[in-house]
Amino acid sequence: MISNKTSEPWKVGVLFSTTGPLAVIEETQLRGTLMAIREINDLGGVNGRPIQPVCYDPGSDANAFGSYAKRLMVEDGISTIFGCYSSSSRKAVVPVVERLNGLLWYPTVYEGFEFSPNVIYTGAAPNQNCIELCNYLMTHYGKRFYFVGSDYVYPRVSNRIMREFIISNGGDVVGEQYLELNARHKDYTPILRDIKNMQPDVIFSTVVGRSTSDFYQSYSDFGFNPNKMPIASLTTTEAEIRAMGHDVGEGHITAASYFEGIGGEAGYSFTKKYKELYGADEPTNVCVETAYFQVNMFTEALKIANSLSSDTLRASVLGADVKAPQGNVTINGACGHANVWSRVGKANCKGLFDVLFESKSAVCADPYLLAYGANRDFCNTNLL
Ligand code: ACM
Repeated sequence: MISNKTSEPWKVGVLFSTTGPLAVIEETQLRGTLMAIREINDLGGVNGRPIQPVCYDPGSDANAFGSYAKRLMVEDGISTIFGCYSSSSRKAVVPVVERLNGLLWYPTVYEGFEFSPNVIYTGAAPNQNCIELCNYLMTHYGKRFYFVGSDYVYPRVSNRIMREFIISNGGDVVGEQYLELNARHKDYTPILRDIKNMQPDVIFSTVVGRSTSDFYQSYSDFGFNPNKMPIASLTTTEAEIRAMGHDVGEGHITAASYFEGIGGEAGYSFTKKYKELYGADEPTNVCVETAYFQVNMFTEALKIANSLSSDTLRASVLGADVKAPQGNVTINGACGHANVWSRVGKANCKGLFDVLFESKSAVCADPYLLAYGANRDFCNTNLL
């Protein structure tokens, strides 16, 4: 029988971990992706064709992301991939999509300083969150910072950038420590002893995944008071706060483009649908939200391109905009990164964030920090 080509599904790859130390957050990115695909298919698909996700679980292993990306492209004949949380996993996938001309949609905050014609970056770059976070912390808590991170590229490069911001504004970094992705409670003990000794004003954490709970819980057990000396992070979302316990998370600070509860009608309807699908107790977070809106952005581009050819699709993505739960988001055609919102929030007793600062509009992506010379004074922006 001759198949009717026009009703064949648009096949896309989806690479997020549902096992291993990063599953606590990557599973939410998977959910955001699948929720958006489901909504689009319920409305009749794209140009009359459904989207068919082909999902693999790389088990939080960066090399497995590279292998699955190759499998998707070579064996499954798929060129569009939604995936990756950690920057190490992205760095394993980039050479694959570059060589085979695929298109990776990457929905995670990251350290910047990267461009690939085969990647659409929809999470925040450092100019879209670090600067305002640093500004807020220095104004409200003090200038002595202590860095604690998981040991891989995102924490190390983010800390280099954060250190430059802090020092150029008269602050100091009094400690910098890294632990394996798998670090558990006891591994934090020597670091917490050092923090007690050094008495910084604020901790900047680039710890990711399951180990985040262990860190914050040990911090609480040591008797540190987040109202006096908070842990500030870009990667501690509502999902990690839920995992550690709302009482443990309360008072700590996160900068992100989205927090549950913001976004008016679009934000409300997004949260409602998410809870209907995944449970009333499941909070949304910036990772779900970004994974969700990037599929909608892809859909708009696909409607115009009517092709999954990476070159055709990318051309219609650059300059695209969507009404995301965080607010209007556009893709910056100059660098293939999203112009996203900048927000700083403090975790409350319900495991949600009270917003302390928000930008007046989406912040133009500047992944190479071209607009931020070492002496730029960033301490004069309007705070809420
Ligand atoms: C990250 O590794 N980009 C969170």
